[in-house]
Amino acid sequence: MPMTKPKVFVTRQIPEEGARLIREFCQAEFWPENLPPDYETLKSKVPGLDGLLCLLTDTIDSSLMEAAGPGLKVISNHAVGYDNIDVPAATQRGIPVGNTPGILTDTTADFAFALLLGAARRLVEGDQFTRAGKWKTWDPMGMLGVDIHQATLGIVGYGRIGQAVARRAAGFEMQILYVDPACPQENEPDENGAICVDLETLVARSDFITIHTPLNEATYHLFDRELFSKMKPSAILVNTARGPIIDPDALYWALSEGVIAHAALDVTDPEPIPEASPLLTLNNIIITPHIASASQATRGKMALYAAHNLIAGLKGERLPYCVNPVVYDSDKTSN
Ligand code: GLV
Repeated sequence: MPMTKPKVFVTRQIPEEGARLIREFCQAEFWPENLPPDYETLKSKVPGLDGLLCLLTDTIDSSLMEAAGPGLKVISNHAVGYDNIDVPAATQRGIPVGNTPGILTDTTADFAFALLLGAARRLVEGDQFTRAGKWKTWDPMGMLGVDIHQATLGIVGYGRIGQAVARRAAGFEMQILYVDPACPQENEPDENGAICVDLETLVARSDFITIHTPLNEATYHLFDRELFSKMKPSAILVNTARGPIIDPDALYWALSEGVIAHAALDVTDPEPIPEASPLLTLNNIIITPHIASASQATRGKMALYAAHNLIAGLKGERLPYCVNPVVYDSDKTSN
């Protein structure tokens, strides 16, 4: 008798590296549209599923898990961040949640650096200026930006991606400060010359500030009016982590009042940024559509990791990358 394949829903088309494996192993439905299913549509897709592969654009809460029913064995997120998933609710149900750490570290750090360079050296403005036919001569005082080399960089969140940004910054001879919950006891500079400081010191001293912390209760709207007020008026802020770490109203105020000089965002609050957002009226901001991990190679690897997590969960094996390994400790999930 042929074995029935496990039933899974994949909330978008994903790179073939992962999609191929999923089709082989599962009875899979892939959401066919370019835009994600809305919450109610997704909820209507989950009853009876064995596995769910979702994206950071999908809200996976307790009520959706309830709708899936007791057969749901795994939730695999096609991302390293997982603030879109109610992980405690999954843990309570004994459902392992997978993510894709490590593989997108360098790609994301490259992009954070691209935003930093682009904002400092007015890359987007320069391109727009050229296309608008305004390039009439070499201008000794035109399009002046600020130097990156030997400037001070503040890294907020010194995990894998934050440290990868520091390695790049060391090549530009930058002075590097960082904040992280895990400051070393002997506060010596690390191999990149980076020194752990408190957030107030970091924002007061940095020419560039780049955010690499997860979004959670402690970091939600961490960048508010008060914090912007402590920055240099020349500061350039880069965010490739999660949009809601910055309060967008406070950012608009800071950029429009000259409290800081420039921002470069790959993530916004909300996402996508509404067309009517006042931030889009400013010249001193670059906004890209959440593409920091979007290299061909990295997105392929993310799909592969997400597929491996999904299939391991369906087989009842430990996920290669599990954000709630406590589910494997039967004492903690038995009640
Ligand atoms: C992208 O933002 C990710 O978390 O992978």
